Amino acid sequence: MHTLSRRHLLGLAAALVAARPLAAQTLPKIHVVKDPDCGCCKDWIGHIRDAGFPVSFEDMAPGALADLKASLGLKPTQVSCHTAQVEGYVIEGHVPTDDIKRLLTERPDAIGLAVPGMPYGSPGMGPESDREAYDVLLIAKDGTASTFNSYPAAG
Ligand code: CU
Ligand code: CU
Repeated sequence: MHTLSRRHLLGLAAALVAARPLAAQTLPKIHVVKDPDCGCCKDWIGHIRDAGFPVSFEDMAPGALADLKASLGLKPTQVSCHTAQVEGYVIEGHVPTDDIKRLLTERPDAIGLAVPGMPYGSPGMGPESDREAYDVLLIAKDGTASTFNSYPAAG
């Protein structure tokens, strides 16, 4: 009886794993490095988690975090609060998940994507209905930036 119910439970667990949405199984893990006192970083992490990305994160003191950004090839004009990495690409700041997915599909030869500063209304930075205009930049291997996507101001 005991064995039977355990087997039943194991079968149930397997069924639950199989029922996970496909997106959550196929999206790669994003690792986020952030300032421990930054609330908007946590909000952005919630946003990419909701989109189905598995997420891990670590806190880093501001000085070390700035060094990390520089070592990854980001210029001071391209940086934001948190720095994420996914499949060899850098994702700097409040980049929308659709742009991350497009990057992972197109796979350009580049450092990654950046939303410099913290534009109001970008994911994790307040309501989209009050969004200010901002660009998602594609950072090339030589450090130059081009426009990957543009979000107009709301309203
Ligand atoms: Cu932020
Ligand atoms: Cu952040």
